[in-house]
Amino acid sequence: MLNQNDKNAPVRVGIIGLGTVGQGFLRLLLKNQGILRERLGFSLVLGGVCEKNSLTLKALTLPPDCVIYRDWEEMVRDPRISLVVELVGGFEPARSLILEAMKAGKSVVTANKALLARHGEEIFGAAATHAVDLGFEASVGGGIPILRTLRESLAGDRILRLAGIINGTANYILTRMSREGLEFETVLAEAQRQGYAESDPTFDIDGIDSAHKVAILATMAFGSPVNLSEIPVEGIRHIKPIDLEFGREFGYVLKLLGIAADHGDSLDIRVHPSFLPENSLLAEVDGVFNAIELSGQALGPLLLFGRGAGGDPTATAVMGDVMELARGIYHSSRGQVPALGFPFSGRTRKALRPLSAIYSEYYLRFMAKDQPGTLSYLAGVLGERGISIESVIQKGRESGGSVPVVVTTHRATESQVREALAIIDTSVHVTEKTVVIRIEDVSMEGPLS
Ligand code: HSE
Repeated sequence: MLNQNDKNAPVRVGIIGLGTVGQGFLRLLLKNQGILRERLGFSLVLGGVCEKNSLTLKALTLPPDCVIYRDWEEMVRDPRISLVVELVGGFEPARSLILEAMKAGKSVVTANKALLARHGEEIFGAAATHAVDLGFEASVGGGIPILRTLRESLAGDRILRLAGIINGTANYILTRMSREGLEFETVLAEAQRQGYAESDPTFDIDGIDSAHKVAILATMAFGSPVNLSEIPVEGIRHIKPIDLEFGREFGYVLKLLGIAADHGDSLDIRVHPSFLPENSLLAEVDGVFNAIELSGQALGPLLLFGRGAGGDPTATAVMGDVMELARGIYHSSRGQVPALGFPFSGRTRKALRPLSAIYSEYYLRFMAKDQPGTLSYLAGVLGERGISIESVIQKGRESGGSVPVVVTTHRATESQVREALAIIDTSVHVTEKTVVIRIEDVSMEGPLS
């Protein structure tokens, strides 16, 4: 392990990957040297960078003593670098470089949520084995300090549940669809033209990015390893403006949520579009903003809101971690606070509840034949499965054709609803597959069920 024997020596940071967040972090590190030194009581300096894109490198003004490494192996081998910031993203070489850096006794900061959600156990385990620190605040919610809040501020409380708008691209699309009545494809294409959405937006719009983030949140909040592949995930591609309009008539706003709850013996973790009461705090989080609401047993509700992406906001999260880890290096106290807030090897794995067992209220839009008896048929099938109707709206009149009939239900299990729809959707009374959207109670008050 590296030791900071010379008390006047600065802590030298190496950055691997100078994309949007890497450059944001570089700017912050160079611009805030004074304030960093004041707060730390020692110097934190840019030891070197590694970036494959030579045009990116050429465009940057780096300090004269900053080493430009040809590859990550060279940086990881360099004993002058005691802290590695991994901002390349993706699985490889990110995974290997983090593991190798830890093996070489270096602490690591990363923003790589996909990697941590998939290979977290290996990486958290390596941090524990090599007694180094791992910072990953920037992996969830960009500049929102949610992970440190869970690990430190709320360490003494039991977290019961949380719900988050943790993907800015999806939230931007839903916000514009809802405000302007636009189709999903129209908003996505415009968001891509304006640079709000990636050219390959799959992870954002299909809920995969939110699943990565909620897996990390649940691991931190509940102290249980989470198997990413077991999380039920549904994105927003299929959402139609008509459902946003009907939702509004019922007093709901649609958000893509990452949800996690601790039921003691099992966890409920999922990602899907959810209708929220329009007067709830999360319903008011619009555009690219993110927010995470949670409930602590002693604390009660808490909401953290802010910029969930972007170079500068995300760089503040990276910097917070870098400073914390630099203190550990400078004061030779690395590896003392477990990265997850729970000792790596002392955790119990809780089973994930299958989607079929979750309780929710539901919004159901049937495209029903406009003829006598259809409504009583729909109500009958729902009633036979023990699903109680809360309200119904039918709009328009189309003799011989089909009209939207929208039903909201009281609480039922997903399997009750799926069983009822399996019957209805194969009947002669409807012309299309029924649209199902869950209605979430995000008040963070009251008991779990
Ligand atoms: N692509 C993410 C989003 C930002 O749209 O929120 C990085 O996590």
